[in-house]
Amino acid sequence: MSPSPAREFEGRTVLVTGGSRGIGKAVARAFHEAGARVVICGRDPAALVEAARDIGEILCLPADVRRDARRLVAGLRGRLDILVNNAGGMEHYRNFERTPLSAWRSTFEENLFGAVAVTREALPLLRRSPAGCVVNIASDVGRRPFHMGPDYCAAKAALINLTRYLAAELAPVRVNAVCPGPVVTGDWSPREVRRAAARTLLGRTGRTGEVAHAVLFAARATFLTGAVVGVDGGAVRTP
Ligand SMILES: NC(=O)c1ccc[n+]([C@@H]2O[C@H](COP(=O)([O-])OP(=O)(O)OC[C@H]3O[C@@H](n4cnc5c(N)ncnc54)[C@H](OP(=O)(O)O)[C@@H]3O)[C@@H](O)[C@H]2O)c1
Repeated sequence: MSPSPAREFEGRTVLVTGGSRGIGKAVARAFHEAGARVVICGRDPAALVEAARDIGEILCLPADVRRDARRLVAGLRGRLDILVNNAGGMEHYRNFERTPLSAWRSTFEENLFGAVAVTREALPLLRRSPAGCVVNIASDVGRRPFHMGPDYCAAKAALINLTRYLAAELAPVRVNAVCPGPVVTGDWSPREVRRAAARTLLGRTGRTGEVAHAVLFAARATFLTGAVVGVDGGAVRTP
């Protein structure tokens, strides 16, 4: 008998990198509510504890995905079924001419190499799982560049292509990407929210829970791999 939908991830271990805030926190909450053993990581230990207090019984591992991947995966104690590479973000809003190489390197460290490092370390555990899968949180700007910095757009595009590549090389471990459109997670000004909403077909920004919904879909869809799931209100389709 299959488990009730409410507990469908019971017995599964999920690692959500960057699970203390925003989209990652919503993903962690959704897996927790679906019965999974959830582990979150982030750099700020206090923010992790705060998230756990809010969500419920989850495990917090302070770690920077760019340099602590080995220690992070060791903290999982030999079990991992679902890896959500969510840690990342846009570090600045500069155009190409004002983006020095150091900023490019930093953005790629944060949005691509962190996911590479954690996936490499996690792979033996994912291969041992009967349902190993990876969900990479990319971005709509990785599919259709928007003025959010050339380095961020390029790093997310690279993460999307890496997803497709790994789906082939790592099968039967499934690898998919979820590409959120604008989701208000930090201190966005009303003007920024309006501008972001205007680039979607639905005329609004997304909610963190709406992205989490797609991540759980990618985790449960057992014949889905190499897919790029846009959760962007149609942002990549706007003229
Ligand atoms: N919000 C959007 O509109 C949007 C749109 C498209 C894609 N995305 C992508 O979705 C993901 C989540 O975005 P968000 O808006 O929810 O971000 P957020 O609110 O800034 O949260 C980022 C989370 O990642 C953690 N984190 C950042 N760098 C990390 C690192 N090097 N190592 C470990 N943890 C790290 C942060 O905790 P600490 O700071 O304590 O480490 C925090 O928990 C990112 O990959 C982002 O690029 C977001």
